[in-house]
Amino acid sequence: MIGSKIIHLQDVDSTNNYVANMVKEGICQNGTVIMAENQFGGRGQRGSEWVVDSGKNLTFSFFLSDVNLAVSRQFDLSRVLAIVLVDFFKENSLEAVIKWPNDILVGRKKISGVLIENQIRNGLVSQVIVGVGINVNQIDFGELSATSFCLEKDKQFNLKELLFSFIQVFNQKFDSLLALDPLKLNVIYEKMLFGFEEPMCFNVGGDVVNGIIKNVDKKGLLHVDINGIVNTFDLKEISFIY
Ligand code: BTN
Repeated sequence: MIGSKIIHLQDVDSTNNYVANMVKEGICQNGTVIMAENQFGGRGQRGSEWVVDSGKNLTFSFFLSDVNLAVSRQFDLSRVLAIVLVDFFKENSLEAVIKWPNDILVGRKKISGVLIENQIRNGLVSQVIVGVGINVNQIDFGELSATSFCLEKDKQFNLKELLFSFIQVFNQKFDSLLALDPLKLNVIYEKMLFGFEEPMCFNVGGDVVNGIIKNVDKKGLLHVDINGIVNTFDLKEISFIY
């Protein structure tokens, strides 16, 4: 369960950092949610930045202290969080898909991203900090291929109401999804996966390549059929052209 305690900050470097500091100080309870109006050092995946307009979007993190998932199932956390996000968008009348590994797209544009930071102890993922960015009332993303609730629905949204909606969907779904047989979880994930089993265009080492996504394995690696041969890629090795 998350959300029994919610801390609302005006300005912070990154809500993930804020949670990490609270954890270090031993003052972060399981399920605590930290949301910020503005992040001046927002972090994305793979060392990227997460830069959005102040006060217009949801930027929040939460702490899970009792996950206790085998390290070999680490990627299942990513799957579950991506599925929870797609369900959250559905609950709020937006059809979203997952772009491997866990970007969320609406109408082929990014609307949300997740930054998961795990602590591993004795072969188990013991503590997790999950950071979520959701584009809400921002309408200009410059060069980025991004969208928001406001752009999709042509109206403003209340950030707190959307946060409560996320918390509700998370609390309804997270435990049961994580408890599923990993193969069943993967079936749900693949059903939501952008480009799954469809001819797609990729950038592989600077070359434009046509292929078909066949699978995302236990480690989170992408399996793509290129000219009849299934190749395996990690995040640094392949990107979508779409
Ligand atoms: C990505 O798609 O690259 C992940 C983006 C995650 C952004 C969120 S915003 C709240 C939390 N705090 C951060 O610094 N990052 C995450």
